[in-house]
Amino acid sequence: MKIAIVNGSPRKGNTYTAINAFVEGSMEHNDIDIIEANKLSISPCQGCGTCECKNGCIAKDDTNETIDKLVAADMIIFATPVYWWGMTAQLKLVIDKCYCRASLLKNKKVGLIIAGGSPTDSVQYSLINQQFGCIAKYLGWDIIFSKSYYATERTDLSDRPEQLRGIREVGAMIR
Ligand SMILES: Cc1cc2nc3c(=O)[nH]c(=O)nc-3n(C[C@H](O)[C@H](O)[C@H](O)COP(=O)(O)O)c2cc1C
Repeated sequence: MKIAIVNGSPRKGNTYTAINAFVEGSMEHNDIDIIEANKLSISPCQGCGTCECKNGCIAKDDTNETIDKLVAADMIIFATPVYWWGMTAQLKLVIDKCYCRASLLKNKKVGLIIAGGSPTDSVQYSLINQQFGCIAKYLGWDIIFSKSYYATERTDLSDRPEQLRGIREVGAMIR
């Protein structure tokens, strides 16, 4: 499968570590492209409607190239730290721009990776999962996994490799 991973974290920390574990598991059987949202120049959606949800964005920045990568993918992994009970602004900019080709983004397989500085029973993980659940329903996406990690300092997750076994196994099952 062609898998696009959108990394919403600006640092090489816990989200990055979880992404790498997924990639280790899945790279043998899949074609993987990691999109670093923080390195992109993507302006906020202006709601102009020119795109008509299919034509792409009029913004002269990285929007169209990025969204076209998602359109071309069979599976999209959205990975984000928790910032203020939600996804990061970097990831939300990409999500908002999905509108510009929304009609071409239907029926994808989707995975979610979330890292936050609170235990996994915190409401923040359900809030993020619910938001993606609504987007998935709207676009006919099939969320095939969602992994949440309680990790605060940059190396917390890499210091606890046993916690990454699950996501590596998920990656290995995808083909
Ligand atoms: C601006 C900002 C807001 C944050 N908000 C939350 C929050 O609402 N809940 C939480 O548990 N952790 C919060 N955190 C902590 C991060 O989610 C946590 O450190 C996470 O491991 C960062 O992921 P990363 O290492 O992949 O960047 C916040 C961190 C920052 C910098």
